[in-house]
Amino acid sequence: MSQRSCLSVILAAGEGTRMKSALPKVLHQIAGLPMVAHVVKAAEAAGAGDQALVIGHGADEMRKAATKFAPKAETFVQEKRLGTAHAVLAARDAISRGYDDVLVMFGDTPLIDPDALTVARLKLAEGAGVVVIGFRTANPTGYGRLIEKGGKLVAIREEKDCSDEEKKITFCNGGLMAVAGSQALKLLEAVGNKNAKGEYYLTDIVEIASGQGLDVIATEASFENALGINNRAELAEAEGIWQRRRRREAMLSGVTLIAPDTVYFSHDTEIGADTMVEPNVWFGPGVKIATGAKIHAFSHIEGATVAENCDVGPFARLRPGAELKQKAKVGNFCEVKQAVIEEGAKVNHLTYIGDARVGAGANIGAGTITCNYDGYSKFFTDIGEGAFIGSNSSLVAPVAIGKGGYIASGSVITESVPDDALAFGRARQKTIPGKGKELRERFASAAAAKKKAGSDH
Ligand code: UD1
Ligand code: CA
Repeated sequence: MSQRSCLSVILAAGEGTRMKSALPKVLHQIAGLPMVAHVVKAAEAAGAGDQALVIGHGADEMRKAATKFAPKAETFVQEKRLGTAHAVLAARDAISRGYDDVLVMFGDTPLIDPDALTVARLKLAEGAGVVVIGFRTANPTGYGRLIEKGGKLVAIREEKDCSDEEKKITFCNGGLMAVAGSQALKLLEAVGNKNAKGEYYLTDIVEIASGQGLDVIATEASFENALGINNRAELAEAEGIWQRRRRREAMLSGVTLIAPDTVYFSHDTEIGADTMVEPNVWFGPGVKIATGAKIHAFSHIEGATVAENCDVGPFARLRPGAELKQKAKVGNFCEVKQAVIEEGAKVNHLTYIGDARVGAGANIGAGTITCNYDGYSKFFTDIGEGAFIGSNSSLVAPVAIGKGGYIASGSVITESVPDDALAFGRARQKTIPGKGKELRERFASAAAAKKKAGSDH
């Protein structure tokens, strides 16, 4: 089948007013990726090498976004929203280039499984003219009903055009169609708009193709494949389904999730086998975790790379550019941004490391802060291999601590420290014997005198 050429036409011109959003509907995200990008990915996975994106509302924003998630896609503007067949025809120039297979997909149906598309393409390869991906549901309200006769699909009837009898049909149009490229334009051009909504329905090509004696069939996929997103409640539902699928995939690939329902993945999260993830962990985009890591509860990780056998959290925040090498440790209430924590280094408690390198085996004491920002620019802190940073120190960048450097607790370090040197950046302690007691007595008698003066009046 791989030698069959395939175009996917993705309809994304819907207005999506029920999202109540300034953002075009299909740019709302699932797992950190616009829903339409999920559709593009599925099309690619099913072998659709070329994509035509039909856009309308928010065309400029859509075009700009598409350069990121579908750089190869051609965009076509459907000026007026006259129906799904009309929308597909906006991509006429692409379709008329002549493909073996044309897949029509909806940009607001992000959970489509590439396997369902592959099955439909196989049917085309076997000679079908039109293949509709259907699903069964106990509650078919709102969906087009698939009307079959003798195992063949003869029509799709939209809800508003159904007779009472037809409304009882539970086999529905999932909205995805595979059409033989040689027939696609002819069929689409034959569609009229004499129906309850006065729209050019893509679904009408079924009746037209069937009338011409073409082989028209429906395949069946699960309901999720057809889940169309119209509002934010449905968006959350789709997110939930996506997350459940991903968690299962992670567990089956060797990742331990103690409380899977509380762990959130992004579309591109990579996580190695024998990694253990405790409850309530969030993986934002761009995370790569190698094998054998422990991600403790309530950690928030985004744009970070974590090597083998690292230990992260609980309550750790790894921000973009954080890179933990083997066996590094970032503990509770630590934030790491744009910094490399080299092999075996420890950043255990209440620390901010930003724009920095922490050398192998270094130990960063509780409350250490790299002061990387003066309100205008960012500066770099370099901490050498095996250095020891005493608790509650501020390292004012740009600054470098040499290999084996030792920083006394509570220091404010503004000048670089050579290898193996000890640096104090704080006032020396002064201890005065007996002075504590003396102070206490003085304060107590002053308070008593004040109280007595008050009660005399
Ligand atoms: C459509 C199907 C219905 C199916 C259902 C599955 C048609 C006529 N009906 O109904 O059989 O059961 O999906 O969810 O196809 N769009 C455009 N331009 C237009 C009209 C629509 O780009 O002029 C896009 C929308 O953005 C959307 C998709 O096409 O992504 C489907 O349109 P929508 O109006 O939501 O169709 P449904 O009524 O849901
Ligand atoms: Ca819809």
